[in-house]
Amino acid sequence: MKTIIEPFRIKVVEPIRMTTREERERILQNASFNLFLVRAEDVVIDLLTDSGTGAMSSEQWAGVMRADESYAGAKSFYRFESKLKEITGFDHILPTHQGRASERLLFELVGGAGKVVPNNAHFDTTRANIEHSGAEAINLPIPEAREPMNPHPFKGDMDVAALEALIERVGADRIPLVMMTITNNSGGGQPVSMGNLRAVRKVCDTHNLPFFLDACRFAENAWLIKQREPGQRDRPVGEIAREIFDLADGATISAKKDGIVNIGGVLLLRNPTLLQRASELLILTEGYVTYGGLAGRDLEAMAQGFEEVLHEDYLEYRIRSTWYLGHALLEAGIQIIDPPGGHAIYIDAAAFCPHIPVDQFPGQAVVCGLYRHAGIRACEIGSVMFGGEGRAAPEMELVRLAIPRRVYTQSHIDYVAEALIELKAEAGSLRGLRIVEAPAALRHFTAKFEEI
Ligand code: F0G
Repeated sequence: MKTIIEPFRIKVVEPIRMTTREERERILQNASFNLFLVRAEDVVIDLLTDSGTGAMSSEQWAGVMRADESYAGAKSFYRFESKLKEITGFDHILPTHQGRASERLLFELVGGAGKVVPNNAHFDTTRANIEHSGAEAINLPIPEAREPMNPHPFKGDMDVAALEALIERVGADRIPLVMMTITNNSGGGQPVSMGNLRAVRKVCDTHNLPFFLDACRFAENAWLIKQREPGQRDRPVGEIAREIFDLADGATISAKKDGIVNIGGVLLLRNPTLLQRASELLILTEGYVTYGGLAGRDLEAMAQGFEEVLHEDYLEYRIRSTWYLGHALLEAGIQIIDPPGGHAIYIDAAAFCPHIPVDQFPGQAVVCGLYRHAGIRACEIGSVMFGGEGRAAPEMELVRLAIPRRVYTQSHIDYVAEALIELKAEAGSLRGLRIVEAPAALRHFTAKFEEI
């Protein structure tokens, strides 16, 4: 059959509070046009992020009850460790409270002034942690990644020639590791191909550089490899995921994505010296090595979430439902990053409202317009998030509609598509914004705006 259904039944429901346009207008003004400052109960459909917003399964909730809350050596830790070992093949698994905690530990150890860290594209917290250590974060996407409508199936790939040129230019001794973000969140949630991962690993081998993954969405990436890469279709998705981890010397993971939990992270390291130092730092700032700043119940939920995320009927539904939204927008002539990636649809905001110049934040204008029109919360990924004092303008002005895992049904998604199609029809009335107040780092979380 061509209809792919949600492969779950709903056992617990959470009511949505409906709002009127007038209410939302007032809420938007009070939040200084920054959707991070809006209360979640004032949002009808929340597509701000797919991070920590997934619905846990009955087995995960059962694990929460079953959990062992012992300080050291809890049963829940060993269950978590054994599942992560099975999926990744790493011998040592460090739990952390979320992805950026793993990043902070890693870059506190390998970063520092004068160092350069390449990536296909750094996520904002990764970049911020690298820069906080004094190092420089460099994005090396393939040129096709900058063209929203280019049909390249793996726009998350790294430009291998650019990586070699960078190593040549700055010298391998200044590069503590090469990182690849799978899927590439800042670049449109686009997958990275197995071919590209192997090619980058080869370059690392030539220059004796460690190869690391930012593997938050490894299962979605593995599924897209299975779907799109020649020669991969007949492999079980778990085997593809395992090959990806086998290529790496380490990984930072936010379990809030493909771990399908509300909180949790992982740091994977093979180098024994680095592992030792990271464990010491973990104990100093996060928690003992068998809980890493989490409760036993979080470890249980992660163990089960990482098991469920590799079920192929789940992944088929997951990727297909993202595609369903993307396809509806494309059919209505709304430009998105096409083909869609795994966890989100990225609207090309510059094309959506061409009358708003980049320095008036077209992405933020679409985000505000969408909230005002239908109470939908989306996230700007453009000049608000990546711009600012001393920074190069980003390549694209995007609005991300991130899809929480197992939370919204097809009719919720139909509502989102309809809202965007209606907004597009009146896009000429959208107004640009100016920033009236912003912090130095990660300004999108707290910046205040006014409409022009
Ligand atoms: N790396 C990537 C690729 C991410 O998408 C995120 C988080 C992180 C690292 C940091 O993980 O939030 O657990 O500390 N992304 C969320 C998002 C916030 O909305 O895309 P964290």
